Amino acid sequence: MSTREVILTGDTPTGQLHLGHYFGSVRRRVELQETHDCYFLLANMHAYTTRSENPDEIHSDTLEIVRDYLAMGIDPAKAAILLQSETPAIAELTFLFSMLLPFNRVMRNPTLKEEIKVKGLGENYSFGFPLYAVGQTADILAFRAHSVPVGEDQVPHIELTREVARRFNKLYCGIDENIEDDDPIMLEKGLFPIPRADVGKVGKLIGTDGINKMSKSLNNAILITDNPKKVKKKLGQLYTGRQSVTDPGDPESSLMQYVDIFIADKDRAAELKDKYVRGDNIGDGHIKVEVAEAISELLAPMQERRAQYDGDDDTIIDIIRDGTARANIKTEETLAMAKEVSGLGYFSRAITFGDSK
Ligand code: TRP
Repeated sequence: MSTREVILTGDTPTGQLHLGHYFGSVRRRVELQETHDCYFLLANMHAYTTRSENPDEIHSDTLEIVRDYLAMGIDPAKAAILLQSETPAIAELTFLFSMLLPFNRVMRNPTLKEEIKVKGLGENYSFGFPLYAVGQTADILAFRAHSVPVGEDQVPHIELTREVARRFNKLYCGIDENIEDDDPIMLEKGLFPIPRADVGKVGKLIGTDGINKMSKSLNNAILITDNPKKVKKKLGQLYTGRQSVTDPGDPESSLMQYVDIFIADKDRAAELKDKYVRGDNIGDGHIKVEVAEAISELLAPMQERRAQYDGDDDTIIDIIRDGTARANIKTEETLAMAKEVSGLGYFSRAITFGDSK
């Protein structure tokens, strides 16, 4: 048995991944796969919360994410890339966990509220939409993950997950309410470690509108597949808030965040920022060109790796079949233990996975 810590994180397939995903989470995963037992989940069921009328799109978006993972450096030999919809223990645990959470607690989740607002869902969201937050707790706990690398916006979901883990450990493993999360007894007696959110250094990358978080649906994202011309064009459109003469340049602006993140030469970045803040003969246009070049340099090797899998769905499917088989070994084990302690352990069952091509 591996004694390494378990990492789980995932992405909802909403289209191609972008630089916000890379800096918020994927870059960190590429490091973690060297030292941890990593599981990267394709949250394809969650995509149905708001897009159930577009199944074919969800299907192809799911495969595209895998291509982006590979492009950004995730290695399927080191980390398991798995399909949520073929990991049935997750669905079973979702049902059980939904009983451990007050309905109102789920609805108070600020990430859900924000999504309802941003996506304009009003009162017309599916029942499954808030349920996905419970599902996400099962995604994480099915793997008994210790740590979850995510962007800042996902922290409320991890908080909910911690509550479910504590509640389960208390109800069914006899762990006293007052035991600290990191008390060794939690790991000895409790089924679930209380998972930590591991928020990337750039928790929230501003999009090329200069205002909102980078997001495909807001049309302000730089995609992993964007060529240098596209990158330059998108940068050109970046709103910097410097349009008026009275604003001498805000060091917190989107453009300055981009300088910090993308200009690898730290001295050069400091020089640019200094000049910019002092309004010293350096315009947005110049900085944008320099940042665009730096971004394209970062993307070039990714695009080269991605090109190897162009049009080759079979290889991508092989990768997720293998990762899902590994995930099912882990999650079936968790499920059996969870059933045993929660009164659902009548007899053992075995499900086999991933052996039919
Ligand atoms: N909700 C996450 C997002 O949209 C994706 C996700 C699903 C996830 N399950 C997860 C992230 C489990 C971390 C852990 O980005």
